[in-house]
Order: sequence, then structure tokens, then C-alpha cells
Amino acid sequence: MNRIVLLLATLLWGNLLIAQNNNTFFPKKDLMTIGVYYYPEHWNESQWERDIQNIADMGFEFIHLGEFAWIDMEPEEGHFQFEWLDRVIDLAQKHQLKVILCTPSITPPVWLGEKHPEIYLMNANYIRQEHGTRAMNSLTNDIYRQYCATIVTQLAQRYGQHKAVIGWQIDNEPEAKHDFSPSAQAAFRTWLEKQYGTIDKLNAAWGTAFWSQRYSRFDQVKIPNAQMVGWWGTNPHALLDFQRFSADVQGEFLDIQAEILRGHIAPTQFVTTNYLGTGTGADPRRASKLDLAAFTAYPNYGSTNLGEQGFRMGDPLTLSFANDYYRSVKGITGVMELQPGQVNWANINAQLLPGTTRMWLYHCFGAGASFACTYRYRQINYSAEQYHSGIVKTDGITPSLGGREFEQAIKEMKTLRKLARTNTPLPKQLQARKTAMLWNNDNIWSMQRQSQSVQWNAMSHFQKYHEMAKSLGAPTDIVSENDDWSAYRVMIAPAYELLDTMLVEKWRHYVHNGGHLVLTPRTGVKNRHGHIWESDWAAPIYPLINAKIDFFDQMHPSGKGEINMANRSYTWNNWADVLTPNHPQSVVASYSNQFYADKAAVVTHTIGKGTITYIGVDTDDNQLEREVVKQVYQRAGATTEEYPAGVYVQWRDGLWTAVNYSSETQLIDIPQNAKIVIGESNLAPAGVVVWME
Ligand code: GAL
Repeated sequence: MNRIVLLLATLLWGNLLIAQNNNTFFPKKDLMTIGVYYYPEHWNESQWERDIQNIADMGFEFIHLGEFAWIDMEPEEGHFQFEWLDRVIDLAQKHQLKVILCTPSITPPVWLGEKHPEIYLMNANYIRQEHGTRAMNSLTNDIYRQYCATIVTQLAQRYGQHKAVIGWQIDNEPEAKHDFSPSAQAAFRTWLEKQYGTIDKLNAAWGTAFWSQRYSRFDQVKIPNAQMVGWWGTNPHALLDFQRFSADVQGEFLDIQAEILRGHIAPTQFVTTNYLGTGTGADPRRASKLDLAAFTAYPNYGSTNLGEQGFRMGDPLTLSFANDYYRSVKGITGVMELQPGQVNWANINAQLLPGTTRMWLYHCFGAGASFACTYRYRQINYSAEQYHSGIVKTDGITPSLGGREFEQAIKEMKTLRKLARTNTPLPKQLQARKTAMLWNNDNIWSMQRQSQSVQWNAMSHFQKYHEMAKSLGAPTDIVSENDDWSAYRVMIAPAYELLDTMLVEKWRHYVHNGGHLVLTPRTGVKNRHGHIWESDWAAPIYPLINAKIDFFDQMHPSGKGEINMANRSYTWNNWADVLTPNHPQSVVASYSNQFYADKAAVVTHTIGKGTITYIGVDTDDNQLEREVVKQVYQRAGATTEEYPAGVYVQWRDGLWTAVNYSSETQLIDIPQNAKIVIGESNLAPAGVVVWME
């Protein structure tokens, strides 16, 4: 008996260890493994082997299967049918392809909705969604959860030990959708009761004294619904809690499936999901049972981007953000869906500039991705995504431009594997610049509700500082408050609106020990419930910045606020926190017009071995912010680069990569003694260059 307990404990411990040490899933020597989505259920079985053989011949290393195939797996309740999937996985194995298998929870079959219509979510008009698409499910609904648990268990039992299966994707693009159904209402009340304990505490936290909103019992509380009460009237504290609740529900839904999988699958198989690359709805840190967070990326979604060819190369921020954000969750990531060509859903679906798909792959590669995968192999000839490109065209066999570029990148990856030096430490200059971008969804959610200016977008503000750090050549991680920050010389916490004294204390400690902290407008204005302090404006951060924030100002987009820094003049019109420092020598920049001319706009303060810089102003061209941030790196003992907009230079495993989203050819400064292994230093738009030093 004891032996069995010991054995179980050892097995469990083994699982835990593997789950924690993510690198066991992707051998370092493979650098980045490349795969493709294949939907056998969309095609005649007679074509499966041809397709799989072609996928293997193009060099792909894995296929991704099954995320929407619930009806094919369970055509009738309790009648499972997996023989078709067995055949596909066996074919993959025959052709040396690995498999990422998915749980199909996103597309419940018609029989399930017919029997239990309550599995679908309700929109803000309290209209129940229905069968016919995907992602319309009520994640709080117990019946839906039970059916999901059953199909996931079946899959896990059948394929959990299959040698070809390397990992699992749960669901598809979890996005913490807002659900107004009765089951969501009930779950929200339970969640609130757990948070607050008593209705009085909820009333205080939500400020229900305002407009007679006070509740007597939890069962009176409804999900805040802007559709019904008007956006301007929606209680911001209730809304913030609803966002947190929705993200918690999403995290829990993923964790339940992850736990079922882990109960059956081999420790070598990873568990992940494919978060929306740009999403701020689901929070990858709330699904703690996943081994890693992966993401989907469609960089060319119809915007104009950089220069005249920008509309063909996509938005550089898509991958720039997603790579750093998702990698930082568990130290490992991959792009699960990378756009292969035109999409069917953008306002304008332009052809990609030749080279673009390959450039995106290298953008992910440089950022340390362990795998890259593309949606989808065959362009589908029917249904909602007919116009969406694939790796092969509508005849099912001819590679598209994107297909050719994937083939090329796969070949190149094989060369790079031979050249890489996987145990080389991060080069010194990069080590010195390592930057933590501090992230908490709460800030984005709160400022989305109260942006206070049409010129303010909290996400863009975060990304502007993230991009700034990258263009100065800093390797960046997007970290959370709970992470260990000691590896970073510089931390930037953009518009960190919600905080508490614990965070202020952690910042003080970080700076005292030699960290250099940059804070930007709107930081520290509210407590965790989203209340403004009953004190001076943003009072908790005053000891850190050694200054007082008197008020904030905004201007019209055509307005010209002026600032002086080191005898240079800058202009602003988005946002200005107006500061009074405790010591005049801490002023870095001052306003030079408006009725508060001479008041401080930027201040800096030393604590222990580090510094804090408060940049109170938000400009359009970022020149001032960039100069200030450069000074911060200097103080941190780090050199900086000047990479042009759209050029990303990154390092991994002994390999430097540069990619170019700008519409001009850029000369990349590659040291004389370096060896270029792919491309050339004159980097054309959508180009890639790889070198070793
Ligand atoms: C993604 C989704 C895929 C596919 C793709 C089309 O968001 O996860 O299933 O629909 O979009 O671009």
C-alpha cells in the first residue's frame, strides 16, 4: 500500500517537475519547430495521405488537429468516434510528423444545443446565442462544462500516451467573452460574495452611494450592462470586477481541462492554448495549470502601418507585443497561428509584400519562440473562410506565396540549427539593458472605461514605451507584480493607474537595490477598487518620485503645450501631469507655456543604488519621452541603439536577427568580424538578416 502511495507521489512529483521546467517540451537544439493546421474533417478521406505527405515534403514538422471537430468525435451524445482521428494521427506518424491535438470545446455539436440551449451565452440584450458558429458558449454553465469534461477525458485517454502527440491546445482563442446569461449572473454573485464577504463591503467598493445604487443582498446584483444603463452611467468599479470575473472564469475553464488532460497524458506532452495575440480580455496568468501560453497573430489586419508598403507588411506591434507578453508568462512561448497570406475578415485584405510571412517567422524566432504554426494548410473552398489564404491554394496542392515562404524558412531553420550556439549567455550589452515592462490587465480595463480623453488609449500608451525600449535595443519582458524583478536593470510601468502600498514598497525595494524605474502619467491615481485616494492626487507614489502632482491637463489635438528640457523645446497635447518637486534639482523637464509655465513635467529621484523617473507628459512624437528614457539607460550603465521604426534586432542562441517592417531599405550595423549567415546588411522591406559574432 505504502509503495503505491510512494509510486503515485513520485509520478505526481515527476509531472510537476516537468510542468515547471517547460524547456523539456522543446529541445533547445531544435530552436523553433514549425507546423501547420490541418482539418481532415474538411476533406475527402481519399486526400488525407496526399495532403499529409505534401505537408511533410514541404518540411513541416508537426500538424495541428481537431479544435473544431467535436461533431466528428461525438456525432451523437455518448457515441464516440475516433477511428478517423486514429487514421490521421497514424498517417502523421508514418510521415514523421508530430501532432498538436486540440480539445474541441469551442464548437459544441448541434445535438448538445438542441437538448440544452442554456449552454450558449447571452449577449448584452439578454438574447441567447445559438448553434451555427463557434465561441458562443457560456463558460459558467455546468452542463456545458460537464460535456466538455467528457469529451476531453475521452481524448486524453485515447491519445495521452500516443508517441506522435507532443502537446495539447485547449479550446480556441479564449477571450473571456462577456456573458449575461443566468448562469453567468449566478456565478458573478458567488464570485462577489467570495471577494467581499458582506454586501456592505461590496457597496463600499462599488461606491453604490452614488445614484441610489445600494444593494441589500447579493442576489439583487446584476452584471453591469452598458447596453441597458448607458456607457456613461455604468459603474466603473462594478465593470472592473466584471472584467476580472470574466477573466477568472476563462482561466478556470482552461485549468479544468488542463487538469483532466494531466490526469491521463504523458509528462512529455505539453498543455497550452492559443490566446488572441492582441487580446486584453483573457489573462494568461489566470490559467495557472497550463505549461505555456501560446498565441495567434494576424499582423496584417487592414491598417496602413509604416510607409507606403506598410499595408502589405502588417502592424509590427502585433508580434512585438505578443512575443514578449506570452513568453513572459512561463518563460516559453510559440505562435500557434501565424497569418499565411490574405485573411477574409480585415477591412482591406491586401496581398502581402513578398517576404512578409517569412519576416514574421523571423520576428518570432528572434524573440525566442519555441515553435511557430500557421492557420491553415489548405484554403477552404466553402463556408465562412473561403477567402482566407492557406499554405496551399484552392486546388489543395499548389503552394501559395506564404506556403513557399514557410518552406524557405523551414529549410533555413535546419541550417540555423547546425550553426546555433544554444549555451551562449546573453551578450553583455543586452544584459545591461534588460527591461521589465510592468503589466496588469486592471490598468487597461480601468482606463478603457475612463479614458478621460479621446486622445488616450491605455494599450497604445503601454505599447509606445514597449516599442521605445525595443528600438533602444533592450530585450524586454512583460512582467507582472508577482514576478521576480531582480534580473532587470530597468523597469517601465506605463500608466499604472491602480496600485496599493505593497506595490509601492516593492518598487522602492527594487530601486534601492539598483533598479531604475520609469513611471508615466496616471500612475498611482487609484486604489485596487478603482477609487481615487482620499488624499492628494496619486499620493502613494510621492515618496518615490519626491514630488507632488498638482493636477493634470489635456488639450485639443491641434493644441500646442510646450515643454523645455535642457534648452530644447518639445510639444504635447495628449496628457500632462503637472508636478511640484520637493527639490528643484530633481526637475528634468518643465512646462514652458500655459498658466502653469515653469512647473515640472519630468522629475527624477535617487533612492539607494537606483533611480525613479516620473514622466508626467504624453506627447505625440515621443521625442521627449525617448530622450528621458535614454538618460535612464545611461544611469543604469547601459548603452543604447537607435533602431529605426519597424526594425527589430534580436538575439537568441548565439544568433542575431534583424527584420524590417519599414518601407525603406535599412542598413543594419553588423560588426566587421561578424558572419552573416542569412540575407545581407542592406535590409529591404520585409527582409531578414541573420548573423553571428
Ligand atoms: C483566428 C481563428 C482561426 C481562424 C482565423 C482566421 O482568429 O483562431 O480559427 O478563424 O482566425 O484568420
